[in-house]
Amino acid sequence: MQAIDKAIEIQRPPVVRFGVGTLDSLAGWIAQQGYRAPFVVADPVNAARIDRLGLGEVTLFGEVVPEPDLTNLSQAVAAAGAADVVIGFGGGSAMDLAKLVAVLAGTDLGLHDISGPNRAPARKLGLVQIPTTAGTGSEVGTRALVTDPATMAKVATESVHMLADLAIIDPALTVSVPPHVTAATGVDAMAHCVEAYTSRRAHPLIDAYALQGIELVGKYLRRAVENGEDLEARAGLALAAFYGGVCLGPVNTTSGHAVAYPLGTRHKLPHGIANALIFPHTLAANAAAAPEKTRAICAALGCPAEGVDAVRAAATAFCEGLGLDMRLSAYGVPEEDLPNMARDAHAIRRLLDWNPIDLSEAEILAIYRTAF
Ligand SMILES: NC(=O)c1ccc[n+]([C@@H]2O[C@H](COP(=O)([O-])OP(=O)(O)OC[C@H]3O[C@@H](n4cnc5c(N)ncnc54)[C@H](O)[C@@H]3O)[C@@H](O)[C@H]2O)c1
Ligand SMILES: [Fe+2]
Repeated sequence: MQAIDKAIEIQRPPVVRFGVGTLDSLAGWIAQQGYRAPFVVADPVNAARIDRLGLGEVTLFGEVVPEPDLTNLSQAVAAAGAADVVIGFGGGSAMDLAKLVAVLAGTDLGLHDISGPNRAPARKLGLVQIPTTAGTGSEVGTRALVTDPATMAKVATESVHMLADLAIIDPALTVSVPPHVTAATGVDAMAHCVEAYTSRRAHPLIDAYALQGIELVGKYLRRAVENGEDLEARAGLALAAFYGGVCLGPVNTTSGHAVAYPLGTRHKLPHGIANALIFPHTLAANAAAAPEKTRAICAALGCPAEGVDAVRAAATAFCEGLGLDMRLSAYGVPEEDLPNMARDAHAIRRLLDWNPIDLSEAEILAIYRTAF
């Protein structure tokens, strides 16, 4: 599990600009590249402040919804017109759609022609990613997730052609994120790091980013929830999200995300909340298989714990300390759907096959019942 000589490849945008004020460099980069027709993909919150990009007149698709589905993707592709560069401006939802628009616009292809690994055509348009939440790390990655309403499953598409040419991570853009979204997206970033760190695919090259990301969340998430204007905390979380994104590429998540997905696809819970609700349970379930790493995770979060029950209690307390209600029942999830959710989650083999322990459908159902 920890062989340092194991082969690994990391891919990342050739240019990453990080820090308060870096957004100001966007217009110069666009001009330098010779792009004349930018197309911005944004959620309504960011669409309303598109002037912050400093690009003047641009074509805009400003109706990205949280946890976007196929319809939302088709609308965005149709709006792209004759764009020569796509700019994702928002959270993971906007950035994931921007990735797909950048490879689908101007082709007759649909999502199902390119979904899965390495099927997307070479990109003819430029791609810039500008995150405005500190969570998904989608700005550094090659993956996009879109829900197919027919199956209620998240379809993952992954291609090097969906990697941005430029990522601008300006923490000042996250100051307006409300406390509960800050908490949920911060837990998502942490979950990317935690799950990669304890994955059967874990690698020392990625472990360093993972542990650093968890420490940053332990140090700064509560501060940012309590005071959104705390720029040092916002920057720490933006960095944690970036590190989480680095973890996602070559290692990716495991049971936490797999068990959380049905909460989003079946019951529309925001991705971060879903992860927070499940995270203490999968961390505890995996504790015996990865004792040292679990100890390091709890310590990095500032809640040292050992043993299944103590780990679950400590991780739950960490999330509750961020103001999150940690009962599944509080989010309108019907108890009778728990078995269907367990069936859906258990089928997500692309993630569960890398979990440090094998989780049966019955064990996943037991996690839902405890979380309920
Ligand atoms: N590509 C990947 O590797 C990857 C990884 C994890 C998650 N995801 C996907 O990303 C999506 C979730 O992304 P997310 O958690 O960033 O949430 P999101 O993009 O859905 O945004 C959440 C909410 O916050 C609002 N918002 C965004 N920025 C804001 C700001 N600066 N101020 C105020 N409000 C703001 C949005 O309008 C939205 O209502 C899911 O679809 C998930 O599956 C992708
Ligand atoms: Fe995630």
